[in-house]
Amino acid sequence: MKIAIDGPAGSGKSTIAREISLSLKIPYLETGLVYRAVGYLVKKKLGSVDQLYWEDVEPLLSSVEVIPEVGRTRVLIDGAEVSSEELRSEEAGRMASLIGTLGEFREYINDEFRRLVGKGQAVVEGRDAGTNIIPDADLKLFITASPEERAKRRLKQLKDRGEEGDYEEILKKIVDRDRRDMERKDYPFKPAPDAVIVDTTGRSLEEVLREVFSLLNRVERG
Ligand code: DC
Repeated sequence: MKIAIDGPAGSGKSTIAREISLSLKIPYLETGLVYRAVGYLVKKKLGSVDQLYWEDVEPLLSSVEVIPEVGRTRVLIDGAEVSSEELRSEEAGRMASLIGTLGEFREYINDEFRRLVGKGQAVVEGRDAGTNIIPDADLKLFITASPEERAKRRLKQLKDRGEEGDYEEILKKIVDRDRRDMERKDYPFKPAPDAVIVDTTGRSLEEVLREVFSLLNRVERG
Protein backbone atom coordinates (compact mmCIF):
# COMPACT_ATOMS: atom_id res chain seq x y z
CA MET A 1 0.00 0.00 0.00
CA LYS A 2 1.28 3.45 -0.93
CA ILE A 3 -0.43 6.54 0.44
CA ALA A 4 0.31 10.14 -0.53
CA ILE A 5 -0.66 12.92 1.88
CA ASP A 6 -0.41 16.56 1.04
CA GLY A 7 -1.78 19.85 2.26
CA PRO A 8 -0.76 23.23 3.68
CA ALA A 9 1.22 23.74 6.91
CA GLY A 10 -0.96 23.38 10.00
CA SER A 11 -3.68 21.38 8.28
CA GLY A 12 -3.00 18.34 10.48
CA LYS A 13 -1.46 16.31 7.67
CA SER A 14 1.55 15.10 9.70
CA THR A 15 -0.64 13.77 12.51
CA ILE A 16 -2.82 11.93 10.02
CA ALA A 17 0.20 10.53 8.12
CA ARG A 18 1.76 9.28 11.36
CA GLU A 19 -1.49 7.62 12.50
CA ILE A 20 -1.81 5.79 9.16
CA SER A 21 1.83 4.66 9.29
CA LEU A 22 1.40 3.34 12.85
CA SER A 23 -1.88 1.62 12.10
CA LEU A 24 -0.74 -0.09 8.87
CA LYS A 25 2.84 -0.56 10.19
CA ILE A 26 4.40 0.89 7.07
CA PRO A 27 7.27 3.43 6.84
CA TYR A 28 6.50 7.14 7.07
CA LEU A 29 8.37 9.59 4.86
CA GLU A 30 7.75 13.14 6.14
CA THR A 31 9.28 15.15 3.31
CA GLY A 32 8.77 18.49 5.11
CA LEU A 33 11.14 17.34 7.84
CA VAL A 34 13.83 16.78 5.21
CA TYR A 35 13.28 20.30 3.81
CA ARG A 36 13.48 21.61 7.37
CA ALA A 37 16.71 19.68 8.05
CA VAL A 38 18.29 21.07 4.89
CA GLY A 39 17.06 24.54 5.89
CA TYR A 40 18.61 24.08 9.33
CA LEU A 41 21.88 22.96 7.77
CA VAL A 42 21.92 25.85 5.28
CA LYS A 43 21.32 28.33 8.09
CA LYS A 44 24.14 26.82 10.14
CA LYS A 45 26.56 27.07 7.22
CA LEU A 46 25.41 30.25 5.44
CA GLY A 47 23.56 32.18 8.16
CA SER A 48 20.00 33.50 7.93
CA VAL A 49 19.58 34.40 4.25
CA ASP A 50 16.56 35.65 2.27
CA GLN A 51 17.64 34.26 -1.07
CA LEU A 52 19.13 30.87 -1.84
CA TYR A 53 21.06 29.43 -4.77
CA TRP A 54 21.33 25.77 -5.75
CA GLU A 55 25.12 26.14 -6.05
CA ASP A 56 25.26 26.95 -2.32
CA VAL A 57 22.92 24.16 -1.26
CA GLU A 58 24.14 21.25 -3.42
CA PRO A 59 27.53 20.72 -1.71
CA LEU A 60 25.82 20.38 1.69
CA LEU A 61 23.46 17.58 0.72
CA SER A 62 25.84 14.63 0.98
CA SER A 63 25.81 15.02 4.78
CA VAL A 64 22.03 14.49 5.03
CA GLU A 65 20.58 10.99 5.50
CA VAL A 66 16.84 10.18 5.52
CA ILE A 67 15.45 7.04 7.20
CA PRO A 68 11.69 6.43 6.96
CA GLU A 69 10.45 4.26 9.85
CA VAL A 70 7.03 3.21 11.17
CA GLY A 71 5.58 6.29 12.89
CA ARG A 72 8.44 8.68 12.19
CA THR A 73 11.08 9.87 9.75
CA ARG A 74 14.62 10.11 11.02
CA VAL A 75 16.90 12.74 9.50
CA LEU A 76 20.60 12.57 10.23
CA ILE A 77 23.10 15.34 9.56
CA ASP A 78 26.68 14.09 9.53
CA GLY A 79 25.41 10.90 11.17
CA ALA A 80 23.73 12.69 14.11
CA GLU A 81 19.98 13.09 14.61
CA VAL A 82 18.72 16.69 14.80
CA SER A 83 16.10 17.29 17.48
CA SER A 84 12.55 17.54 16.29
CA GLU A 85 12.04 20.80 18.26
CA GLU A 86 14.83 22.47 16.35
CA LEU A 87 13.43 21.30 13.02
CA ARG A 88 9.89 22.38 13.89
CA SER A 89 10.83 25.95 14.82
CA GLU A 90 9.42 28.91 12.86
CA GLU A 91 12.86 29.73 11.46
CA ALA A 92 13.49 26.18 10.19
CA GLY A 93 10.03 26.36 8.56
CA ARG A 94 10.89 29.63 6.85
CA MET A 95 14.20 28.22 5.59
CA ALA A 96 12.42 25.04 4.41
CA SER A 97 9.97 27.14 2.43
CA LEU A 98 12.89 29.00 0.81
CA ILE A 99 14.58 25.68 -0.05
CA GLY A 100 11.26 24.67 -1.63
CA THR A 101 11.55 27.50 -4.15
CA LEU A 102 14.67 25.85 -5.67
CA GLY A 103 13.51 23.70 -8.59
CA GLU A 104 16.89 21.92 -8.76
CA PHE A 105 16.56 20.91 -5.12
CA ARG A 106 13.07 19.51 -5.66
CA GLU A 107 14.26 17.44 -8.61
CA TYR A 108 17.22 16.13 -6.63
CA ILE A 109 15.29 15.31 -3.47
CA ASN A 110 12.24 13.86 -5.25
CA ASP A 111 14.61 11.40 -6.99
CA GLU A 112 16.00 10.49 -3.57
CA PHE A 113 12.49 10.05 -2.16
CA ARG A 114 11.45 7.81 -5.08
CA ARG A 115 14.59 5.73 -4.54
CA LEU A 116 13.84 5.42 -0.80
CA VAL A 117 10.25 4.25 -1.36
CA GLY A 118 11.16 1.98 -4.27
CA LYS A 119 8.67 -0.83 -4.69
CA GLY A 120 7.90 -0.90 -0.95
CA GLN A 121 4.91 0.29 1.04
CA ALA A 122 4.96 3.81 2.49
CA VAL A 123 3.07 6.85 3.63
CA VAL A 124 4.64 9.82 1.84
CA GLU A 125 3.68 13.22 3.21
CA GLY A 126 4.35 16.66 1.74
CA ARG A 127 4.27 18.72 -1.42
CA ASP A 128 4.70 16.65 -4.57
CA ALA A 129 3.81 13.39 -2.76
CA GLY A 130 0.88 12.49 -4.98
CA THR A 131 1.84 14.55 -8.03
CA ASN A 132 5.50 13.60 -8.29
CA ILE A 133 6.97 11.19 -5.72
CA ILE A 134 4.39 8.37 -5.76
CA PRO A 135 1.96 9.29 -8.57
CA ASP A 136 0.93 5.56 -8.51
CA ALA A 137 -0.29 5.83 -4.86
CA ASP A 138 -3.28 3.65 -3.90
CA LEU A 139 -4.79 6.63 -2.05
CA LYS A 140 -4.03 10.35 -2.30
CA LEU A 141 -5.28 12.67 0.41
CA PHE A 142 -5.17 16.46 0.40
CA ILE A 143 -5.67 17.61 4.00
CA THR A 144 -6.65 21.24 4.38
CA ALA A 145 -8.06 23.78 6.86
CA SER A 146 -8.80 27.49 6.72
CA PRO A 147 -5.81 29.83 7.38
CA GLU A 148 -7.59 31.14 10.50
CA GLU A 149 -8.02 27.63 11.91
CA ARG A 150 -4.38 26.79 11.13
CA ALA A 151 -3.24 29.98 12.88
CA LYS A 152 -5.34 29.08 15.95
CA ARG A 153 -3.80 25.59 16.08
CA ARG A 154 -0.30 27.01 15.75
CA LEU A 155 -0.95 29.49 18.57
CA LYS A 156 -2.21 26.67 20.79
CA GLN A 157 0.87 24.59 19.96
CA LEU A 158 3.12 27.49 21.00
CA LYS A 159 1.16 28.06 24.22
CA ASP A 160 1.32 24.33 25.06
CA ARG A 161 5.09 24.60 24.77
CA GLY A 162 5.07 27.64 27.06
CA GLU A 163 5.95 30.03 24.22
CA GLU A 164 4.34 33.33 23.31
CA GLY A 165 2.62 34.00 20.00
CA ASP A 166 0.56 36.69 18.32
CA TYR A 167 -2.49 35.46 16.37
CA GLU A 168 -2.39 38.16 13.66
CA GLU A 169 1.33 37.67 13.13
CA ILE A 170 0.98 33.88 12.85
CA LEU A 171 -1.94 34.26 10.44
CA LYS A 172 0.12 36.61 8.25
CA LYS A 173 3.03 34.14 8.20
CA ILE A 174 0.69 31.31 7.17
CA VAL A 175 -0.84 33.37 4.37
CA ASP A 176 2.62 34.49 3.19
CA ARG A 177 3.98 30.95 3.19
CA ASP A 178 0.91 29.60 1.33
CA ARG A 179 1.40 32.30 -1.28
CA ARG A 180 5.11 31.54 -1.69
CA ASP A 181 4.44 27.81 -1.98
CA MET A 182 1.65 28.35 -4.53
CA GLU A 183 3.28 31.03 -6.64
CA ARG A 184 6.72 29.48 -7.11
CA LYS A 185 7.76 28.89 -10.69
CA ASP A 186 8.81 25.25 -10.28
CA TYR A 187 6.32 22.71 -8.96
CA PRO A 188 3.75 25.17 -7.56
CA PHE A 189 1.81 23.65 -4.69
CA LYS A 190 -1.52 22.15 -5.77
CA PRO A 191 -3.51 18.96 -5.02
CA ALA A 192 -3.10 15.97 -7.33
CA PRO A 193 -6.14 15.84 -9.64
CA ASP A 194 -7.12 12.44 -8.20
CA ALA A 195 -6.63 13.42 -4.52
CA VAL A 196 -9.49 13.23 -2.02
CA ILE A 197 -9.83 16.63 -0.29
CA VAL A 198 -10.29 16.37 3.49
CA ASP A 199 -11.17 19.67 5.18
CA THR A 200 -10.38 19.55 8.90
CA THR A 201 -11.74 23.03 9.77
CA GLY A 202 -13.85 22.84 12.93
CA ARG A 203 -13.50 19.05 13.19
CA SER A 204 -11.81 16.95 15.87
CA LEU A 205 -8.86 14.68 15.07
CA GLU A 206 -11.01 11.61 15.88
CA GLU A 207 -13.65 12.72 13.40
CA VAL A 208 -11.08 13.27 10.65
CA LEU A 209 -9.32 9.96 11.35
CA ARG A 210 -12.65 8.13 11.10
CA GLU A 211 -13.12 9.59 7.61
CA VAL A 212 -9.53 8.79 6.58
CA PHE A 213 -9.65 5.18 7.81
CA SER A 214 -12.98 4.62 6.10
CA LEU A 215 -11.37 5.82 2.83
CA LEU A 216 -8.44 3.46 3.47
CA ASN A 217 -10.77 0.51 4.14
CA ARG A 218 -12.51 1.15 0.85
CA VAL A 219 -9.15 1.08 -0.98
CA GLU A 220 -8.05 -2.10 0.85
CA ARG A 221 -11.29 -3.86 -0.09
CA GLY A 222 -10.58 -2.81 -3.70
O1 DC B 1 5.36 20.26 5.73
P1 DC B 1 6.12 21.34 6.48
O2 DC B 1 5.24 22.43 6.97
O3 DC B 1 7.03 20.79 7.55
O4 DC B 1 7.08 22.01 5.37
C1 DC B 1 7.81 23.18 5.63
C2 DC B 1 8.10 23.94 4.34
O5 DC B 1 8.93 23.13 3.49
C3 DC B 1 6.87 24.27 3.50
O6 DC B 1 6.48 25.61 3.72
C4 DC B 1 7.34 24.13 2.07
C5 DC B 1 8.56 23.26 2.13
N1 DC B 1 8.32 21.92 1.58
C6 DC B 1 8.31 21.78 0.23
O7 DC B 1 8.47 22.77 -0.50
N2 DC B 1 8.12 20.53 -0.32
C7 DC B 1 7.93 19.45 0.45
N3 DC B 1 7.75 18.23 -0.11
C8 DC B 1 7.92 19.59 1.86
C9 DC B 1 8.11 20.85 2.40
